[in-house]
Amino acid sequence: MAKLPTWNPHSWQALPASQQPAYPNPSEVEQALAQLRRLPPLVVPEEVDRLQNLLAEAAAGKRFLLQGGDCAEQFKDCTAEAIADKLRVLLQMSVVLTHSGRRPVVRVGRIAGQYAKPRSSDLEKVRGVALPSYRGDLVNGVAATEAARRADPQRMVEAYFHASATLNHLRALIEGGFADLHHPERWELHQPSTKAYQAVLEQVKESLDFLSALGNLERGALERIDFFTSHEALLLAYEEALTRWVPGGGRPGELGRGAHYNLGAHMLWVGERTRTLEGAHLEYLRGIANPIGVKVGPSATPDGLVKILDLLDPLQRPGRITLITRFGVDGIQEALPPFIRAVKRAGRQVLWSCDPMHGNGIKTESGLKTRHFEAILGELRKAFEIHREHGSHLGGVHFELTGEAVTECIGGSSGPSEADLPRAYESGCDPRLNGQQSLEMAFLIAGMLRG
Ligand code: PEP
Ligand code: CO
Repeated sequence: MAKLPTWNPHSWQALPASQQPAYPNPSEVEQALAQLRRLPPLVVPEEVDRLQNLLAEAAAGKRFLLQGGDCAEQFKDCTAEAIADKLRVLLQMSVVLTHSGRRPVVRVGRIAGQYAKPRSSDLEKVRGVALPSYRGDLVNGVAATEAARRADPQRMVEAYFHASATLNHLRALIEGGFADLHHPERWELHQPSTKAYQAVLEQVKESLDFLSALGNLERGALERIDFFTSHEALLLAYEEALTRWVPGGGRPGELGRGAHYNLGAHMLWVGERTRTLEGAHLEYLRGIANPIGVKVGPSATPDGLVKILDLLDPLQRPGRITLITRFGVDGIQEALPPFIRAVKRAGRQVLWSCDPMHGNGIKTESGLKTRHFEAILGELRKAFEIHREHGSHLGGVHFELTGEAVTECIGGSSGPSEADLPRAYESGCDPRLNGQQSLEMAFLIAGMLRG
């Protein structure tokens, strides 16, 4: 590969950057970015490195990645209840995966920063009027007015503060014992939990009693958990402003005197629409020390993906790359094997994850976006099988979900039907699994993990 020009946090600016808003006033943008650059980081490099180590273990088959949260977080949902609900559902799922799937889980939320959305068109028609598309609360407002849809740079500062309030609450809940395995009742969802889940809790409790009877429990080991944050690295000016030089950072011997980290989240991913080799997004991501997710969908090619791996991870750092495939239940059988073969041929170890949401979206006749539980499950089953058949393994899953009792996806054993969807459809963007559907999914995945 030809030698690349030197990277720095703003080297992406020389390359074409898709999906960036047109801000009317550049000096307002500069003011907002200057403010962000002065503010303290949201996470610390030690946490980022720790996540990378855990992802390396997942790539080696010793752990399983559970990544999930809203399609798009909205500032209005930065409430104690909504944050706790998301933590609850991810905790419940991880207990099921660890206990029934026999695999320790790495929990990564799509949370505390998932505020920017790629759009297929700059304009959208609302009731016959063309308005700038809603690009997420980081950029503009969802209300269908010209004023709300204006890209406002001050929203980057607001996003930082909402992310920090969200993360502060998550950290306080976890530090305060919310995740304590001795008290799973703290993470009961509003919907009644199933007998299967209660049975898992009973067994977990018995195991804990047994271990403490043996005097074998390290204090703190069960009361506290790791929880990490992630979002799509989409709005590059914002990501750049949260990028910091960390003296002594990076892996020993590799980056020398230190490294740049994005300290706005532990993990960042690049989406299907911005994963362009010559584009600004990959240029930005190649220089930061964080673990990176790469969405791999119908627009990717196996050769192109190997080039992306060379660009993002020339030193082949364990845990650096998570490939998140999203082909849809009807596309995965044909699409996935060539990617597995190409990555193998290139001699690379990556963490393979599956996003069974983004390739399975449909619209109902009344125009609501939804997804079928069966299609989501079907893509996951196939992902497990295909990896096994090709001497690889699926080491993680990526969901759009919420702990709340929304009616956005169809199906599951007690799930909404198409006619039920309007009852509690709250997503500002894509449809999410609700609490019960998520937990049911965790049981089904645990079964697949056991093989
Ligand atoms: C997403 O994960 O929110 C998303 C937009 O996915 P993709 O880039 O895979 O379409
Ligand atoms: Co989405």
